[in-house]
Amino acid sequence: MTNKSDAKIININNDFGYSKPLKPFIKWVGGKSQLLYKLQKLLPSANDNTYKKYCEPMVGGGALLFYVLNNCNFEQFYISDINCELINTYKVIKSNVFTLIHKLRELQSAFCELNKLEKKDFYYQIRDKFNSTELNFSTVEEKAAYFIFLNKTCFNGLFRVNKNRQFNVPMGDYEKPVILDEENLLNIHYALQKVNIVCGDYSLSKSFIDNSTFVYIDPPYRPISETSDFTSYNSVEFDDNCVYLVTVYC
Ligand SMILES: C[S@@+](CC[C@H](N)C(=O)[O-])C[C@H]1O[C@@H](n2cnc3c(N)ncnc32)[C@H](O)[C@@H]1O
Repeated sequence: MTNKSDAKIININNDFGYSKPLKPFIKWVGGKSQLLYKLQKLLPSANDNTYKKYCEPMVGGGALLFYVLNNCNFEQFYISDINCELINTYKVIKSNVFTLIHKLRELQSAFCELNKLEKKDFYYQIRDKFNSTELNFSTVEEKAAYFIFLNKTCFNGLFRVNKNRQFNVPMGDYEKPVILDEENLLNIHYALQKVNIVCGDYSLSKSFIDNSTFVYIDPPYRPISETSDFTSYNSVEFDDNCVYLVTVYC
């Protein structure tokens, strides 16, 4: 939870208590920010009391989740994803956002001072550290900071790992990437206090879902060709067999 003495002063200016609308804290392949204008029409209307719970078992960058947290009155929330590095970052934002902000500020200022060649060296050093640091109790904040740094500076915000689970995306070409958006992270931190965050298969959400649950599930797309690899959010592939299971399950 928030340590109030550390809290940045932010002006609350909407009904939900955020200083400005929440937005995804990372880029994510298949992210639905551009399609929100269509998806929002499918959400229950403000005076529909049928749905009390919101469940998004393949949350990714959470474009719809954040829209819902900005605009809807669900009482309980459940999000999950098979990508444990991603879910670790959601959890750290929820439970220890100030340490994360501190680490991101250090990364941001170190990175911005460098010339192009030095930036490249720095990027690959962080990528090596990310790959060689095992995700465990003592490394959660460090891993979350590296995860956000890599997402903001790598090619197209892609998350791709090889079969050895090593993140292998090359550096992107951004002049001044915004590695730390403190206000958005703080707002997300407040919003996530009411969200149950789970790392694992979408099927785990079954225990949360009942008649009053609105479920949004956005599985990976089929690859556009046999060699295309853009569904690799994780070292475990998601394929048509899994899509079949999602259909049966929902
Ligand atoms: C198309 S993306 C979701 C994008 C998200 N709607 C957004 O706006 O960013 C699909 C997500 O499903 C996750 N995923 C793949 N297989 C999964 C599984 N078996 N269970 C849960 N999540 C899974 C991927 O890690 C990825 O984040």
